[in-house]
Amino acid sequence: MPDYAIEPARADDAAALLSLYRAVAAIEGGLARGVDEITPDYVGGFLSEALAHGYSLVARLADGSLAGEIHTYPMGPKKFAHVLGELTIAVHPAHQGAGVGRALFRRLMDIVEHERPDILRVELGAQESNARAIAFYESLGFVVEGRMTGRVASVGGGYEADIPMAWLRPAR
Ligand SMILES: CC(C)(COP(=O)(O)OP(=O)(O)OC[C@H]1O[C@@H](n2cnc3c(N)ncnc32)[C@H](O)[C@@H]1OP(=O)(O)O)[C@@H](O)C(=O)NCCC(=O)NCCS
Repeated sequence: MPDYAIEPARADDAAALLSLYRAVAAIEGGLARGVDEITPDYVGGFLSEALAHGYSLVARLADGSLAGEIHTYPMGPKKFAHVLGELTIAVHPAHQGAGVGRALFRRLMDIVEHERPDILRVELGAQESNARAIAFYESLGFVVEGRMTGRVASVGGGYEADIPMAWLRPAR
């Protein structure tokens, strides 16, 4: 079990996030982007949106490097202000399977559930072959909302379904 602290990302985490996301993208089949698509613009874009309007939480190791990160933010138009989307979670391959992803996601959902009663939906997507990730999200209360046939290019050729999932605030 790595020794880490979960905390909000900072603006000066951009370089560490670039390195984390490139390491995660190097193993195909998880993140939507390949290594060559993990650019400073991509990382800077999600970090500035998350810092300004949403959330970015990191699992920071004792040496300051990042074992994982999760971010989400609203789409922009006021009609969607009750929805958090664009959700991405990435745990460094050296630390996958050790509870970091679950700890990051639980912390995010704790914040949403207890501090953001205005948020009624949290959305994400997973490619159908990433069955472990889909099961993980279901264990956190997300439900499968459909099946977008042929939406994602598969590793090794062909296309597969993208699975839209959402957490819905329970009615009170
Ligand atoms: C998916 C991911 C975020 C899970 O984080 P993690 O720290 O490895 O997972 P945890 O140890 O907290 O375990 C949570 C669940 O994730 C799943 N999981 C574990 N390792 C995984 C892996 N390498 N890939 C996919 N899912 C994994 C397991 O089902 C686990 O459930 P369990 O505790 O009931 O066994 C992480 O493995 C990752 O970044 N994978 C590559 C990128 C990716 O697939 N991102 C999601 C795109 S939709």
